[in-house]
Amino acid sequence: MVTARPKAPGEELALHVRGVEHGYHIDGVYRPVIHEMNLTVEAGEFVALLGPSGCGKSTLLRLIAGLEKPAAGWIEVDGRPVTGPGPDRIVMFQDPTLYPWRTVRQNVALSQDISGKRNDQAVEEAIRLVGLSGFEKAWPHQLSGGMAQRTALARALVNHPRMLILDEPLGKLDALTRLTMQTELHRLWKERDFTAIMVTHDVDEALFLATRVIVLGGTNHSRILSDIRVDAPFHRHRDDPCFLKLRQEILSQLGYSADSLL
Ligand SMILES: Nc1ncnc2c1ncn2[C@@H]1O[C@H](COP(=O)(O)OP(=O)(O)OP(=O)(O)O)[C@@H](O)[C@H]1O
Ligand SMILES: [Mg+2]
Repeated sequence: MVTARPKAPGEELALHVRGVEHGYHIDGVYRPVIHEMNLTVEAGEFVALLGPSGCGKSTLLRLIAGLEKPAAGWIEVDGRPVTGPGPDRIVMFQDPTLYPWRTVRQNVALSQDISGKRNDQAVEEAIRLVGLSGFEKAWPHQLSGGMAQRTALARALVNHPRMLILDEPLGKLDALTRLTMQTELHRLWKERDFTAIMVTHDVDEALFLATRVIVLGGTNHSRILSDIRVDAPFHRHRDDPCFLKLRQEILSQLGYSADSLL
């Protein structure tokens, strides 16, 4: 039996980004990436971040994950300032980054082994949750791309994080496996009730999964160009006619008109 994460009394705002600025020095020249970013996300939302390559999506995720500190402004998760990485925010990248010398079970249990707090039941439940029962003893090289990514998902979910930070997590999968994994990701989000912040380049993926789609972009530095609520009920049908207008709206924010796609 899968249990949903218990919500703290009064818990609403999962993420609060206020006045965040960030940039990098390249060859001694400071290049701003994110300017005056303000964003709030409520607990349990699934937010998809879209934007052109290089606009700062991964940068924003790293700031939320606490892997970097913003040059200005502040970020709070569940009402607490982000000062570094934490077990409440798990990051998943395109690459599943499994340890080749650890089995599926050992990879899923990695964080628990590091902290010395092994919970076999939670590990088995996470493996079952992602549909990998029977493959506990498989080595990473014996897994398909989708199975490796499921293992990474189980590893991410094993300690019931409150927030999953996903940087193009399905970007390297073939088109059909990707559709299956989108359905799986949706199911996991419903069952585990975490807040998801996911970068994707796939507008249809965003519309299938997200409760909100945020488009980043701009010249010189990025800002939020649009923040679109996707009101279609779950379970969603990929061909839902209501997605047509939203898809056009998002693509035009990204600089593509219907004509330019022909
Ligand atoms: N460690 C770094 N040092 C210097 N510049 C960096 C660093 N990380 C990112 N940048 C710069 O920040 C900008 C945003 O990069 P980022 O990786 O956040 O983009 P992105 O929106 O995730 O792009 P993509 O869609 O291609 O993944 C880029 O111009 C990049 O050159
Ligand atoms: Mg990126």
